[in-house]
Amino acid sequence: MKDTQAIIERVRRVNPDVQHLELAVDEALTRIKPGQSLLVRVAPFSAHFTEEHWDPYLREQWYPVNMVNNKLVIERPTGTRYEPGQIVNAMGLIGQPIRFRKTARTVLLLAYNTPPTALLMTIPWLLGNKIAVTLVLLGNAVDYGTQHLPPEVEVIRGSAGTEEQTLIWPNQVLTAGWADQVLVVVSKDDERLRFKRVMDLFENMRREVPKNYLFGVFQPTLACGIGACWCCALKMQGMEDKLVCTEGPAFDLTMMDLK
Ligand code: FES
Repeated sequence: MKDTQAIIERVRRVNPDVQHLELAVDEALTRIKPGQSLLVRVAPFSAHFTEEHWDPYLREQWYPVNMVNNKLVIERPTGTRYEPGQIVNAMGLIGQPIRFRKTARTVLLLAYNTPPTALLMTIPWLLGNKIAVTLVLLGNAVDYGTQHLPPEVEVIRGSAGTEEQTLIWPNQVLTAGWADQVLVVVSKDDERLRFKRVMDLFENMRREVPKNYLFGVFQPTLACGIGACWCCALKMQGMEDKLVCTEGPAFDLTMMDLK
């Protein structure tokens, strides 16, 4: 875990809601793997700032979506303004890389009521290893613009409607059946409830949900990021709690206590 300074070198709006920041980072952070993230504080755009100007006091979690020419590409909503030259205090690497099965040929990424940002870093890695990727956008996520994603990614949008109806998408039994592994992100307001709904859905679609198949990628607010405060602890079945910041963010939903 390193506390480093990074510099925003380029800001690019990729669609009306999303901008990409190209971040020059310490060499240690260039070894980041899909699933890992940074905890950051952003300095205001000024050559003269002191420690109390860091914003916010509680760090934000930034998920990279790609690595281009040794620069980390970070996806942020367009609501916040960033400028080239801005300094970022970045702590990382947070979490463990997501592990894919050696035999995986198709991976399903599912974003339910939240942008798929935390899943996107897996896409260049998966495509580079000749693994097909399907991205399913459900609930609020149906509005997420995907023009910037590689054309090889199959994008499926679910239907709008009530909370239950938003868990419906075209050919869902087929897409779930073909997938060798599924990664899911849900809105942060109640991750346990929404992951439980996703688990119930897959239990209805398949006779049984095997281990090492359906993973929740958890995004609670991380206070310390180093396993000290236990604010990110998750209840597991028949074993000790696990911490998102040191052992996550991806956990096999069949091993979790979602009640
Ligand atoms: S954020 Fe403090 S233990 Fe995970």
